[in-house]
Amino acid sequence: MTENKIALVTGANKGIGKEIARQLAEAGYQVLLGSRDLARGEEAAKDLPGTTAIQLTVTDPASVQAAADRIAAEFGRLDVLINNAAIIPEGDSGVADVGADALRAGFETNVVGLVAVTQALLPLLRKAEQARIVNLSSSLASLAIVGDPSSRMSTVRTVGYNATKAAVNMVTVMLANELRGTGILVNAADPGNCATDMGGWDAARTPAQGAAVAVHLATLLADGPTGTSYAEEGQLPW
Ligand SMILES: NC(=O)c1ccc[n+]([C@@H]2O[C@H](COP(=O)([O-])OP(=O)(O)OC[C@H]3O[C@@H](n4cnc5c(N)ncnc54)[C@H](OP(=O)(O)O)[C@@H]3O)[C@@H](O)[C@H]2O)c1
Repeated sequence: MTENKIALVTGANKGIGKEIARQLAEAGYQVLLGSRDLARGEEAAKDLPGTTAIQLTVTDPASVQAAADRIAAEFGRLDVLINNAAIIPEGDSGVADVGADALRAGFETNVVGLVAVTQALLPLLRKAEQARIVNLSSSLASLAIVGDPSSRMSTVRTVGYNATKAAVNMVTVMLANELRGTGILVNAADPGNCATDMGGWDAARTPAQGAAVAVHLATLLADGPTGTSYAEEGQLPW
């Protein structure tokens, strides 16, 4: 068993996930950099001392189980799980126009995949002293924010993304309730609009700024919150 805390970040070969991996490694964590294309994960890990790539496709149950088995065999526990992997499905649109395939694809990766990864790793998270689970969410998931007609977020027509992230918020609250009293804290992080393949390269925030919110929640002390959603400016409304 290593002395370092062990963290797994899904979808960490690029973007905000890669930055979360970098910041956790710099904080002394041994970071497993989940990547559905192992070669791209290994390429990313080369830049990041303290990280190792691991093949992980969140929508493939065999891949999820293989990753959990490897972590069990190598470390026997997991201290931090960052559910970062997500998509904006192709053809995403407003509710009036969205296709069923786009909706299904969004839920398959962003919700079903996230829950599958979490379930596979829960036994190992329970073996850590004070595990942390962080689910990447978005202000586009907030009913309060999107429901405010004066908000810029109310004009974004991506129900296949927004609805899945709202579901991620519910998963976060429910899992926090299920794990209350175990020492495991579960929270959602909104990185803000960051310059990545998903966020658009003209976005104002850097992936490192977005990552910091998730890293903060991953490193909460024992008296930290659970079942909440945080952005850089503080707690977000649901
Ligand atoms: N960027 C923003 O402005 C912003 C704002 C709010 C919230 N977020 C959230 O922050 C997180 C990271 O976003 P990002 O901007 O860094 O996105 P990104 O650059 O598009 O990276 C997404 C990552 O998820 C991986 N991924 C997608 N489907 C997967 C699957 N089935 N199995 C495993 N990995 C999969 C991708 O792998 P491949 O490289 O193989 O495609 C990639 O590594 C997401 O949860 C996103 O919703 C982002």
